[in-house]
Amino acid sequence: MANEKTVFPEYDASTLARMDAYLRETFRPADGALEEIRVRAAHAGLPPIHVGKLDALHLEVLARAAGAKHALEVGTLAGLSGVALLRGMGEGSKLVTLEYEPKHAEVARETFRKNGFESQAEIHVGSGLETMARLKPAKPFDLVFIDADKENYPGYARWAVEHLRVGGMLIGDNTLGWGMIANTRFDDAEDERAIRGLREFNTFLASSGRFRATMLPTGEGLTVGVKLR
Ligand code: SAH
Ligand code: DHB
Ligand code: MG
Repeated sequence: MANEKTVFPEYDASTLARMDAYLRETFRPADGALEEIRVRAAHAGLPPIHVGKLDALHLEVLARAAGAKHALEVGTLAGLSGVALLRGMGEGSKLVTLEYEPKHAEVARETFRKNGFESQAEIHVGSGLETMARLKPAKPFDLVFIDADKENYPGYARWAVEHLRVGGMLIGDNTLGWGMIANTRFDDAEDERAIRGLREFNTFLASSGRFRATMLPTGEGLTVGVKLR
C-alpha cells in the first residue's frame, strides 16, 4: 500500500510543484541574506552545494529546539548553513566550523562578517579529521552538523559522539545519498565510497545505542540523532 512507504508518497509532478510553491510562500525559507550568500559564493567560483533551502530552515529550528549555544560544523563552504545554525542558537552562541579549502573559508569569513556573526564563528582551515585530532574544546558541543566529505562521515561521527553532551544533537546532511542510499550496484567507485560512508554513519546513529535517531527525508536527507550516552 502506498501509504505504508516510509519515504516520499507518490505525488505527481504538478502536485509537487504546487506544494513547493506553497512551502516557499508560507515558510519563506530563502530570505535576502541567504540568497546573497548563494550569489556571492557562485561569483567566487564555489560549487553550489549549500544545504537545501528548507534544510537551512530545519537547521535553524533544530538548533533552537535543542537550545544549542555551542556547535561544531564540518564543511563550512560559504557559511550558509553556519548562518542558519547561528540564527537558531541566538545570542551568546558560538560556532566552530571546519573547512578544507582556504578559498571557501575566505568566502565564509565574509559571510559571517556580513551577517553580524564575526565574533561568534571560528573557522579552522584543514582536513576535518586532522583538525578534530587537534581540537581541545573547552566544553562539550550541544550540536554537531556534518556536511563535508561523505566517506569520512563515520570518522566525524565517532569523534563527535565523544565531544557532544548527553542530550546533544548530531545532524548529517545528504544522508539519502542522492537517491543511491539503498543501491546495491554503483557505476562509479567514488559514489560507492560516499554511499558506504553515509550508510555506516546512518547505522551508527540508528543502531549503536548511543543515539535515538531519525531521518528527515527532505530532498537531501538530514539524519538527526539525540545523544543518549
Ligand atoms: N555546510 C555547507 C556546505 C558544505 S559543502 C552549507 O550548507 O552551507 C562541503 C564542504 O566540505 C566543502 O566546502 C568542502 O571543501 C569541504 N570539505 C571537503 N572535504 C573536507 C575535509 N576532508 N575536511 C574539511 N572540509 C572538507
Ligand atoms: C555535494 C555535497 C553536499 O554536501 C551537498 O549537500 C550536495 C552536493 C557534492 O559533493 O556534490
Ligand atoms: Mg550537504
